[in-house]
Amino acid sequence: MRILVTGGNGYIGSHTVRQLLAAGHRVLVLDNFSNSKQEVKIEIQRLCNLSYDLEEVDILDNDKLECAFRNFQPEAVMHFAGLKAVAESFKVPEKYYRENVVGLLNILQLMEKYSCKNIVFSSSATVYGLPTILPITEEHGLNPISPYGRSKLVGENIIKDWSNAGSDRSAVILRYFNPVGAHSSGLIGENPTGVPSNLFPIILRTILGIQPNLEIYGYDYDTHDGTAARDYIHIEDLASAHLAALDLLAVFEGVETFNVGTGRSYTVLDVIKAFEHVTKIQVPYKFVDRRSGDAPNCFADVAKIKRVLGWTSQYGLHQMCDTAWNWCETTKPLT
Ligand code: UD1
Repeated sequence: MRILVTGGNGYIGSHTVRQLLAAGHRVLVLDNFSNSKQEVKIEIQRLCNLSYDLEEVDILDNDKLECAFRNFQPEAVMHFAGLKAVAESFKVPEKYYRENVVGLLNILQLMEKYSCKNIVFSSSATVYGLPTILPITEEHGLNPISPYGRSKLVGENIIKDWSNAGSDRSAVILRYFNPVGAHSSGLIGENPTGVPSNLFPIILRTILGIQPNLEIYGYDYDTHDGTAARDYIHIEDLASAHLAALDLLAVFEGVETFNVGTGRSYTVLDVIKAFEHVTKIQVPYKFVDRRSGDAPNCFADVAKIKRVLGWTSQYGLHQMCDTAWNWCETTKPLT
């Protein structure tokens, strides 16, 4: 299948592109490199021994975007491009709506023009807001608490309306829980631009001595050790969920939404212990106040994705930490 991948040079996109190529798909990646490095393509090609095209295109640049659609004539789009920093989204909400909503509209418009009827849309568990019941099923209420989360929810609604408005249109919305880890080669992984705000890259920075300690946000949550818990999902598992979604697009019309998680959560201290085990290096930490907007615990009900797509996660916490550390040692992304 010819698949146009927006944001395909980024963390989730790059792991998915590698799997798409390995599965025999033709891929065109569009990326504006705002949160990724150009060299990623070299590593992906090295890993698959296959080549593909990568173009510097911003999804807000309609002319360049159209040129890519016209030349490539995609049969499906995987739409990863977008902004995802929660704290930043409070400061510049209009930037988030422009990138995450207008960018999506641009893509759907061109899909219509070039008769492309299939899309996999990157959403996030952040659309649920603070969980009222665990595990979180796809039926859980949608009450995002940040502009970023709301921009993703708007995107989901647009996708639903788009799919209802025409025949043969198929969409899969994937709600990611917490993506972590790296490809086992250590050649691709998470390489955020600027100072990271997610737990795994911060722990890695702490282990490397780039920052003196990890600040743990809260010690008195109602969890087994008092620290907050999340459903961490290995990036290779998350990538394979996209390939499963593609298979579904081929055989159905309409829109389906799936959680992509493991169905269990680990606390911050669980993650620290796993990293210490893998690296044999102690992670210095101190407790600080809770971060505003953080849920005590959050994990997915994964029954639907298992039933409909036949997909389940394969990687455990140890492999998540092990591959993240291997990436750090092999590629030295954070230094
Ligand atoms: C955050 C975002 C969420 C986004 C997700 C994936 C917030 C409030 N939520 O989720 O919208 O979809 O990232 O990008 O920002 N932690 C520490 N110390 C740190 C960093 C994190 O204790 O320095 C803890 C957090 O309290 C949390 C866990 O580690 O319990 C994971 O944090 P993080 O990686 O930021 O993910 P989320 O908070 O789940």
